Amino acid sequence: MTHTYKLMILPGDGIGPEVMGEVKKIVAWINEHADFKIETEDGLIGGASYDEFESPFDDSTLERCRAADAIMLGAVGGPKWDGVDYNLRPEAGLLKLRKELDLFANLRPALVFDALIDASTLKPEVIRGLDILIVRELTGGVYFGEPRGIEDLGGGERRGVNTQIYTTSEIKRIGRVAFDLARKRNNRVMSCEKANVMDSGKLWREDMSALHEDEFSDVQLDHMYADNCAMQLLRDPKQFDVIVTDNLFGDLLSDAAAMLTGSLGMLPSASLGAPSATALYEPVHGSAPDIAGQGKANPLATILSFAMCLRYSFDQGDLADKIEQAVQRVLNSGTRTPDIMAKDCREVSTSAMGDALIAELKN
Ligand code: NAD
Ligand code: IPM
Ligand code: MN
Repeated sequence: MTHTYKLMILPGDGIGPEVMGEVKKIVAWINEHADFKIETEDGLIGGASYDEFESPFDDSTLERCRAADAIMLGAVGGPKWDGVDYNLRPEAGLLKLRKELDLFANLRPALVFDALIDASTLKPEVIRGLDILIVRELTGGVYFGEPRGIEDLGGGERRGVNTQIYTTSEIKRIGRVAFDLARKRNNRVMSCEKANVMDSGKLWREDMSALHEDEFSDVQLDHMYADNCAMQLLRDPKQFDVIVTDNLFGDLLSDAAAMLTGSLGMLPSASLGAPSATALYEPVHGSAPDIAGQGKANPLATILSFAMCLRYSFDQGDLADKIEQAVQRVLNSGTRTPDIMAKDCREVSTSAMGDALIAELKN
């Protein structure tokens, strides 16, 4: 009997539904051609959910996510919801999804395709052949620490508070993910924090070192301050293999890494929890309100996230390889969305990029 995987699709806001439309085309192609099936269900998140439920992520949708084998997310947010209360904003919906499913490990690979070397703002020799992996802690730190809030001090004065908190077990569990992945790559981990000014950073460094000594002494571990890491990513990104860092620094460093690859529209990610938990696959980019609804969005970050889903959640590594190779061939052929457009290439829409990929898959 053919196996059927259940995929929950949360297109979200802005360009989210546009890029997810291209993933749906690939799912349809798989259902026609592969020896397994993918059954999809759509759900609301972000502003789209707020408009419907007055909540950016409804409990009924959360339960449907839990019941699925994997979740694909487009993007959330946009100016339409700028005035909405903080805990009801579109972004709060995404944070709730990550937290409720305990998806503490966010894998953000940054890979430079040869065909896109000119799309990056960096010099070719700096980025050619780049293959690094940022492992971002995703359910802790200043994103979730208490106390938080804005307090009225009177007389027109207010105080905004967020709290950066990490415990040893949170640090070690993300550290284990990074060391394990490094063993399958080039066996090097760079741990980034601000141990020079933050207590949570000092603890992060001490716990990473202890974990390394106890369980992973075969892997090379180095430490770097996060601000230096931002600079080193631009100066010489190929010095890195795996970077492990906290929630906030990981958010910043992965956007910086995106530009090494040519565009934020190229960077995929996987958000993983315990082996038994449903995993979430999401591009690193946001809802791109400046280009939403114009057919200009690059769907490749979302399509590459779907390849990660096939590999990690559906155990279909061969098919994931096939999709990644098709992306490479489409880029080699000069097919480009505007964000990665270059001289002598052919500029196409979001939908035409998806079609070009399907055509390559058929080859
Ligand atoms: P953004 O990532 O949406 O856009 C930054 C820039 O990159 C824009 O110029 C945009 O046009 C471009 N860009 C992004 N994705 C692209 C793609 N696939 N193809 C081509 N160009 C692309 O970041 P922002 O403008 O800071 O944020 C907009 C909204 O998205 C905010 O509400 C923010 O909170 C939200 N956001 C959501 C996520 C997510 O859902 N995971 C991630 C980041 C930001
Ligand atoms: C990301 C985004 C999110 C984050 C926002 C939208 C909550 O920027 O996934 O990188 O800050 O984690
Ligand atoms: Mn981000």
